[in-house]
Amino acid sequence: MLGVRVPAREAEKARRALLAAGALAKEYRIKRQGSYVILPVKEEARDLLQGYEVVETEFESLEKRKSFEDRLRELLSPQEFVLVRRSFDIIGDLAILEVPDELFHRKHEIARALMEAHKNIKAVFCKRSEVKGEARVRELEHLAGERRSETVHREHGLRLKLDIAKVYFSPRLAYERQRVLKQVQDGEVIVDLFAGVGPFALLFARHRRVRVYAIDINPEAVRYLRENIALNKLKGEVIPLLGDAREVAPRGVASRVIMNLPKSSDAFLDLAFEVLKPEGGVVHFYTIAPEENLWGKAELARSVAKRMGKRLEVLEKRVVRTYSPRNYHVVFDLRVS
Ligand SMILES: C[S@@+](CC[C@H](N)C(=O)[O-])C[C@H]1O[C@@H](n2cnc3c(N)ncnc32)[C@H](O)[C@@H]1O
Repeated sequence: MLGVRVPAREAEKARRALLAAGALAKEYRIKRQGSYVILPVKEEARDLLQGYEVVETEFESLEKRKSFEDRLRELLSPQEFVLVRRSFDIIGDLAILEVPDELFHRKHEIARALMEAHKNIKAVFCKRSEVKGEARVRELEHLAGERRSETVHREHGLRLKLDIAKVYFSPRLAYERQRVLKQVQDGEVIVDLFAGVGPFALLFARHRRVRVYAIDINPEAVRYLRENIALNKLKGEVIPLLGDAREVAPRGVASRVIMNLPKSSDAFLDLAFEVLKPEGGVVHFYTIAPEENLWGKAELARSVAKRMGKRLEVLEKRVVRTYSPRNYHVVFDLRVS
């Protein structure tokens, strides 16, 4: 399209003059070119441009980019639109969608609409199973964009490299990690029993002078954890340990234990209490609870502590997020001594 090239110091004067003459194409972004500026002008105003250097160039439109929702409304019928899930997870530059069965035949179009609305997303996947197995990984199907599942996710100033098809990672726990970090003091020894690629462990070590033993049974998670230790500037120390937490966790050392394996952490409460120093400490116990009995697992934790001759106090309890329609991912901060 048509543009007017002026020295940058004259740009504002020229902009006003072109605007007053009705020649400025206001819906396009003004371009910078070294010490010059190119102002977008209307084709029909060509005759008004005498005395200006006129050039042909492309300009970026200032029109609001259509959102994912706008694009879905255009793409789908009203009946289909009510079925579609508009929420999605972004991990690094990858997005994970849920596509209901009724819309499965339109999954590629939906994925492309998401990429058009969010230029920072380089590939889109959809969930093909629940999080499952020991490694807590879900099956994914590639729908659009680059054919890769490795990315670098940024969270609270950390860089977390991971492969969404090989390891567990949830960006939805970012607030929860920050909440726990606020409790962590310099000098602590922390054991993260189910550390994954290290989002809790690295966060603590980045901001506090702590030693964190970070355990995971998935060799891929520990491989990325090691890379992530090298990728981030840490104040403290993270010691990766590959294996079953029951076998490899150091005993009697920790002032704090993280146990984010919500589906089966109940069975590891005794281990968490053994991992604490003899004088005790805090356990962040993540578990799944049904809507009708959100805080019932406190009794379980109390009975395990009692059996082991320990005292237990619930310092705080909160819902972390919805897990499934009637179940919640909850956390108890337990002081055990
Ligand atoms: C829900 S993920 C949490 C990962 C990490 N804490 C996070 O927030 O991203 C649970 C992790 O526990 C690991 N895991 C499962 N069973 C384990 C066990 N017995 N010992 C050690 N790690 C285990 C899985 O491989 C997985 O990476």
